[in-house]
Amino acid sequence: MITQVQRIIAIIGGTGAEGKGLALRFAKTGARVLIGSRDREKAQDTARRVTEVAGGALVEGRSNTEAASEAEVVILAVPLSAQVGILKSIRDSFRPGAILVDTTVPLEVAIGGRVSRTLTLWDGSAAQQAARLAPPGIQVVAAFHSLSASALADLDHPVDCDVLVCGDSTEAKATVRELAETIAGVRAIDVGPLDNARLLENAAALLISLNLRYRVKHSGLRITGIDPHGTQQ
Ligand SMILES: NC(=O)c1ccc[n+]([C@@H]2O[C@H](COP(=O)([O-])OP(=O)(O)OC[C@H]3O[C@@H](n4cnc5c(N)ncnc54)[C@H](OP(=O)(O)O)[C@@H]3O)[C@@H](O)[C@H]2O)c1
Repeated sequence: MITQVQRIIAIIGGTGAEGKGLALRFAKTGARVLIGSRDREKAQDTARRVTEVAGGALVEGRSNTEAASEAEVVILAVPLSAQVGILKSIRDSFRPGAILVDTTVPLEVAIGGRVSRTLTLWDGSAAQQAARLAPPGIQVVAAFHSLSASALADLDHPVDCDVLVCGDSTEAKATVRELAETIAGVRAIDVGPLDNARLLENAAALLISLNLRYRVKHSGLRITGIDPHGTQQ
């Protein structure tokens, strides 16, 4: 498992709302964060702003391909409409053994529809689509869908939300769960194989619909009745 000390986290699309929020939270934990963008200067500008807010953090801006090539954990935080194109552009850049974490919620808004509905994708989910495009040997884990950008950006409060994590590699999931739980207030739960990613992605759409219904910005979710660190079947 990759340890906190050596960890370098790349956030592809780290200039956006979700990526920047994750960058802020990880920077707060002392992790080394690389903000990736199609535009290196934009990434460097975001990295400067994240460093200012997170205080003394190790955050730097890179092009998406540079960021992917330097990190052990590569978090993909781009809209569905950009997911395939960006993955194709970075697929030759991954370090051997890196983990790709997909956060994509396949919202209907990508084709002009509603923000609270999801699309059915050929692969079954956005994360499985990412897995099809990932290079051999790169484990894909789906996570962070339930963490809203606005909750992540509110550094005055811990995040009151579970992070559901799925994937086909136990070790990669353990690394991502450990990483997620460095964010104050987060409990990370292994919800099984990557096949289950559609459930996580749909749960995120449910949270968006609750935000709209109750006029809030960061509804979250908590699973009760299990010990996520206990024995699994
Ligand atoms: N926002 C949330 O609360 C939230 C919560 C959970 C999960 N997510 C998921 O996280 C992902 C990012 O969401 P977001 O709200 O952060 O999105 P966003 O701000 O619209 O976009 C994130 C970044 O993706 C890149 N990008 C945008 N459009 C692109 C395009 N057409 N082609 C290539 N790159 C493009 C941009 O980076 P550059 O211009 O710098 O390249 C942008 O800063 C989505 O898949 C979303 O479902 C979001």
